Amino acid sequence: MIRVLFVCLGNICRSPMAEAVFRDLIVKEKMTNIMEVDSGGIGGWHVGEMPHQGTRKVLDQLNISYEGIKARQVSKKDWDDFNYIIAMDDQNIKDLRNINSQNEQIVVAKLMDFVEEAREQEVPDPYYTGNFDYTYELVMEGCSKLLSYIKEMHNI
Ligand code: 4NP
Repeated sequence: MIRVLFVCLGNICRSPMAEAVFRDLIVKEKMTNIMEVDSGGIGGWHVGEMPHQGTRKVLDQLNISYEGIKARQVSKKDWDDFNYIIAMDDQNIKDLRNINSQNEQIVVAKLMDFVEEAREQEVPDPYYTGNFDYTYELVMEGCSKLLSYIKEMHNI
């Protein structure tokens, strides 16, 4: 199994959006037997909550399911359980290094690292910007490129 964990600060806006979008892609490509996806937050303020209303609205409009997605906090154990930990911004990467700095085994990277000539290096936080549509554009682009990268790396 190839396991991918998306990470953001609160796990209610960006990373659950990425989880839903990536899950939708792997369902459509009939890859659910070889890939699993989850998301988590650096902070624990929203543990147990469903995605933010703005994230749900974008996903509803596009008919992308977010069923069963609930906020949880990232823990050191995630480094044992996942092959890819994909963050939304530079601060997430710093925070992840503080949780576990001995991670040679797995890929820890930002989502936009997989997009060549990306418009942004980080996915802006719509919790503060209010622009969930722009976040979706970047998340969709990033997830699509990440999936291509993983397929190439694993000869799929
Ligand atoms: P996210 O956005 O990291 O994209 O889920 C945030 C959600 C909540 C908070 C911060 C960012 N918060 O401080 O509660």
